[in-house]
Amino acid sequence: PDQINSQGHLQIGGVDSLTLAEQYGTPLVVYDVAQIREQIHRFQAVFEANHVQSEVSYASKAFAAIAIYQVVNQEHGHIDVVSGGELMTAIKAGFPMDRVTFHGNNKSEAELRLALDHQVGMIVIDNFYEIELLSRLLDELDLQTPVMLRITPGISAHTNEYIQTGQVDSKFGFDLGSGQADQALQAVLSNPRFQMKGIHAHIGSQIFEVAGFEGVANKLVEVAKHWQSEFNYQTEILNVGGGFGIRYVENDHPLAPEEFVDAIVKAVKKAAKVAKIPEPGIWIEPGRSIVGPAGYNLYTVGSRKDIPGYNPFLSVDGGMGDNIRPALYEAEYETVLAKDPAAENVETVRIAGKYCESGDILSRSQALPKTEPGDVLAMLDTGAYGFAMASNYNRNPRPAVVFVENGQSQLVIQRETWEDMVRLDLPYELN
Ligand code: LLP
Repeated sequence: PDQINSQGHLQIGGVDSLTLAEQYGTPLVVYDVAQIREQIHRFQAVFEANHVQSEVSYASKAFAAIAIYQVVNQEHGHIDVVSGGELMTAIKAGFPMDRVTFHGNNKSEAELRLALDHQVGMIVIDNFYEIELLSRLLDELDLQTPVMLRITPGISAHTNEYIQTGQVDSKFGFDLGSGQADQALQAVLSNPRFQMKGIHAHIGSQIFEVAGFEGVANKLVEVAKHWQSEFNYQTEILNVGGGFGIRYVENDHPLAPEEFVDAIVKAVKKAAKVAKIPEPGIWIEPGRSIVGPAGYNLYTVGSRKDIPGYNPFLSVDGGMGDNIRPALYEAEYETVLAKDPAAENVETVRIAGKYCESGDILSRSQALPKTEPGDVLAMLDTGAYGFAMASNYNRNPRPAVVFVENGQSQLVIQRETWEDMVRLDLPYELN
């Protein structure tokens, strides 16, 4: 819902985007907080309507910050963290630790200690090394912990191959065919320090169809059935992961959150009935679909290069350091001229970043009205895996992040400075 105010400017959460650019500078990452709340509600509502025991767990790798954890907490959401850094951010945000799930294929001892010290609500065990490491730490700390086992479902969602994680040849989770998952279950059940809660799988990201989710639902029920008949273990929770696609450009036709969740709920209920197992609770882990559409990257136009026979390069003050997705995945976005998004387009340009690399092109083909240096461009739907994957390449400071809601704005991550670029450097003194 991109809005235009009475002056004809792009408005975000009731605030003029040009005011934001002026007040906080560019490049700037802006989140429309109402959109984030709305997405969380939409996912939650379908489960509630179906009376399913559920958790909508925000996959915070899409964008982690104290402020977003506060918002998710206000909406009674659950979060996934995948590192000590994300966990520490959630701790600092005062996020209730019993609503935190800890993921990862190589969690370190220090990370697991941090998680256990703060009694996170769920640890998703990924591999045998982790079972051993966790057992040792639980003994040492004299603790118990709720866990799920992540399995590799052998389902590859129809999506960009760079971001598939569910095929058999994956670094994540226990393999089913070779009996590894069964061995993992036995190891976990034999140690009373593990409270075995459920089964997790994640099939990929930016998925547009329900088929993959129905597939994973069936697969998880099949595993639950097998574990019940074989090991007399009754699964409480099936976690089908995230991956719900969003619209970046016109050609993207994602389903609504309601359609995804509805299909998952139906598939689990049906499969559980056929398998004659008690209906498990269902957890999902949306990341992109919660924060992606709510995010905007504002840039200021600088230099321009016209080459006869080619689309011009229009350079902006950010680039691959604040959004690596176009360079890394050939991801596409739509961009508008903030001062007049409705103006007639007069040319197709390539929006280039400022980084010293030919591949630093934010958009390979964007129709735009006439622009001049100083104009602000707003790249849309940048809220997931944009700032989260930001780097200091070329020692460029990372942008500021601003939250906007009900016509007000607030800085939630400060802009880095050139001084910050050398903050951790130490002079070499051995010679
Ligand atoms: N759960 C697990 C276990 C995951 O690995 C992921 C994403 C999610 C949930 C959330 O998926 P989402 O709903 O956001 O699609 N950097 C890539 C995306 C990597 C996704 C990794 N895992 C990108 O920019 O497209």
